[in-house]
Amino acid sequence: MLPEDVASELEKVLLSEEEIAAKLAEIARRIEADYEGRDLLLIAVLKGAVMVMADLARELKRPVEVDFMAVSSYGASTHSSGVVRIVKDLDISLEGRNVLIVEDIIDSGLTLHWLKQNLASRNPASIEVCALLRKPDAMKVDVDPRYVGFDIPNEFVVGYGLDYAERYRNLRSIAVLAPHVYS
Ligand code: XMP
Ligand code: MG
Repeated sequence: MLPEDVASELEKVLLSEEEIAAKLAEIARRIEADYEGRDLLLIAVLKGAVMVMADLARELKRPVEVDFMAVSSYGASTHSSGVVRIVKDLDISLEGRNVLIVEDIIDSGLTLHWLKQNLASRNPASIEVCALLRKPDAMKVDVDPRYVGFDIPNEFVVGYGLDYAERYRNLRSIAVLAPHVYS
């Protein structure tokens, strides 16, 4: 279900609230098994990944730590350049920790590729990626995510943390934006 005032701005619902929740529960069970007996630090990049982080962290039936980074990419705004500047760094040291990067979407993969290398240089015990969405047809560099929720078509999607011009982040579902909104 969509709030009526934005329904006309969206072409179709791609993933419902229920489908997202079921997938995150599935991923959480895998994470619990894979990290059994080990510490786990979830790291999300603001702002898009906040919903995935909040729901995944609460779905996990084990203690985890969480931390956030804010980055901004240089260059064109519609396409990721992969050149990234840290706006807010982590509060927690990664030395010897098992790090799981929690992402909303892997599009070109450039941002995540940069982030993974940056975090790997801080001597974590391990580093893996969990992304709710991936666009296989847009991928320029493979960041080898251990957990992927859904592979989706190469269309601009919004909702569940994802925005267009800072709108739609609070939709509970993930939807394809209608072309008339951005053209
Ligand atoms: P790259 O290309 O570096 O992209 O993998 C990373 C960031 O770009 C944003 N992004 C999107 N945001 N709908 C959005 O609302 C989309 O379809 C979309 N594709 C990429 C997102 O912030 C992601 O982390
Ligand atoms: Mg964005």
